[in-house]
Amino acid sequence: MSKSPPSSDLVEIRTAIRNNNHASEPDQVRKLAAEAGNLLTPAQRDAVLERARNLVRQCRTAAHQAGTLDVFLQEFGLSNREGVALMCLAEALLRVPDEATADALIAEKIRSGDWDAHLGKSASGFVNASVWGLMLTGRLVTLEAQTLNNTVDWVRRLVARLGEPVVRRAVLQAMRILGGQYVVGRTIDEAMRRGRTQNEPGTLFSFDMLGEGARTFADAKRYFHAYSHAIDVIGGARTAADPEKNDGISVKLSALHPRFEWAQRQRLDSELAPGIKELALQAKRHQLGFSIDAEEAARLEPTLGLFELLAREPELSGWNGLGFVLQAYQKRAPLVADWLIALARSTGRRLMVRLVKGAYWDTEIKHAQEQGYADYPVYTRKAHTDLCYEVCAARLLAAPDAIYPQFATHNAHTASVVLELARQARAATRRADRNLGGGFEFQRLHGMGQLLYAQLMTDVSPALRIYAPVGSHRDLLPYLVRRLLENGANSSFVNRFLDAKAPVGEVIQDYHRTIVAGDCLRHASIPPPPRLYRQMGEDRTNSRGLDLDDPLCLSALTAAAGAAAKRFHQAGPIIDGELHKGDAIPVVSPSDQQIGVGAVAEASAQHIDAALASAQAAQAGWN
Ligand code: FAD
Ligand code: 2OP
Repeated sequence: MSKSPPSSDLVEIRTAIRNNNHASEPDQVRKLAAEAGNLLTPAQRDAVLERARNLVRQCRTAAHQAGTLDVFLQEFGLSNREGVALMCLAEALLRVPDEATADALIAEKIRSGDWDAHLGKSASGFVNASVWGLMLTGRLVTLEAQTLNNTVDWVRRLVARLGEPVVRRAVLQAMRILGGQYVVGRTIDEAMRRGRTQNEPGTLFSFDMLGEGARTFADAKRYFHAYSHAIDVIGGARTAADPEKNDGISVKLSALHPRFEWAQRQRLDSELAPGIKELALQAKRHQLGFSIDAEEAARLEPTLGLFELLAREPELSGWNGLGFVLQAYQKRAPLVADWLIALARSTGRRLMVRLVKGAYWDTEIKHAQEQGYADYPVYTRKAHTDLCYEVCAARLLAAPDAIYPQFATHNAHTASVVLELARQARAATRRADRNLGGGFEFQRLHGMGQLLYAQLMTDVSPALRIYAPVGSHRDLLPYLVRRLLENGANSSFVNRFLDAKAPVGEVIQDYHRTIVAGDCLRHASIPPPPRLYRQMGEDRTNSRGLDLDDPLCLSALTAAAGAAAKRFHQAGPIIDGELHKGDAIPVVSPSDQQIGVGAVAEASAQHIDAALASAQAAQAGWN
């Protein structure tokens, strides 16, 4: 375990967080590996591996009973054409506004798959029913495509009249079935009812009112009311006096303001903070957990700012339900863990912290490349994220006075590491202070991880909380795409753990040993954004972008813009290197005509003659 206690100086840690946004991956990983080297002994790591591998074996044995997404995603991952086709459809279909485009999209995606190849391969009825639907739809679409070439064919007319709406409805229905696996209910009442009947007694929930990235204030208001209503309904059914033992709510700040970004922080303080405080006060009145979900890395800075306001709010004191979500794939994660511990201690409260790996990995990589940032805010190797998760977990567990850790993962290896770290932390805490139990909970997403936790909970007894999305399929889209992307990737645990062809020892590997034995380097195929085109064989550096979500970059830009604005700019014809100011007329700022920015002298006929003469004189030399 790291000997150095986290700095209690919040400002200092905040500065370090800012300096580490695009830190060097090898440097960070070397530090993580060194810290993790002190967390578990080699014998403990072996025991963890053994436990995780046994869990996978048990899950494989139990899998034939499961009709879950774990099984579906194993059949349709991102490494086969059909999985990719489904992904594209899910991503695009629900927001295609016109029917003709929807039909064209369905035709293209469904026709490109070899659905028959999946029929009967899975033991799950749910998977096979989906395959049947997709296969029949694919046949219909192929038929339609063939007949399009022959304008007199009666089949073409039949399909045109009957086929398209049928196909469209069938595929939308397939998407809804898929989406329905992730949503626990359309309303909070339905979700609470279903959540209880579908799960073991004692299971806790954090309800998520679907919706994010509000584009208008009207959207933000609608989401605010959905959260507010849900808090009252959840609170009305609460059973305990302690937020840790009650159901709670998960909130996405991007749903509550259309400009949830660092550059708009002054507006956020006046327009968003009062609403968040109102929701938090409601949660406090009911003694519920109130978690601020983690979103894109660019939103971390404004999230930290608002979270600190809530933590310092006197009206919210004496309540232990305020929660933060920490993403281990971010290079800043261990520092954010330190900041949360320091914040809890300096405000005299215990914070809930859900530790996740992060659901926006593809977006982060693409965004940094498009913007031409110096580097990525996230790790490029999955093992590095796993290692960072371990280090963050240990830091959170070592501060039971400040933090109630909530470990959200569907990975048997990660869960086993947490159990070992928690056992060790509990022993250390008991030695230090008998009053501190060092409790924690596991979390899984609705529709996922059932198999794992059904096995895990037979021999351990921490609480289990389910993150339960609530809402209509239209608001589900971004959430659904994240699930399909992260779980369809073959680096994902969920994508491989049930695959009988993947040896258990391959699915669960000792990432710490591998990293220490290796070079801690970044992923070879994911170069830093400036080198993107060179990696593809082109002789050029990617154009550099300014990260306006990075406070350091933005303040440097603002300072430079401020200094430029103070200068008096003089424009006029330059002939032979000499500026002719002549009869300059004042120029004012287009945004505020009270502000003078300089003066401009227009070129006169004499200036033009002089310039031409000078050019003619110079021509001989140029020749
Ligand atoms: P694993 O298969 O072990 O890990 C997959 C994860 O590894 C990916 O999601 C990604 O984060 C990371 N990864 C994959 N490839 C690479 C690579 N090449 N380099 C570096 N890292 C890589 N996520 C949020 O962002 N915000 C939330 O608020 C949030 N809430 C959640 C709540 C619950 C209850 C749960 C279970 C998850 C939540 N998540 C959230 C999702 C979470 O971030 C993970 O994406 C997801 O759970 C997969 O992690 P895993 O440990 O289960 O699986
Ligand atoms: C997401 O919305 C679960 O919060 C996580 O992807």
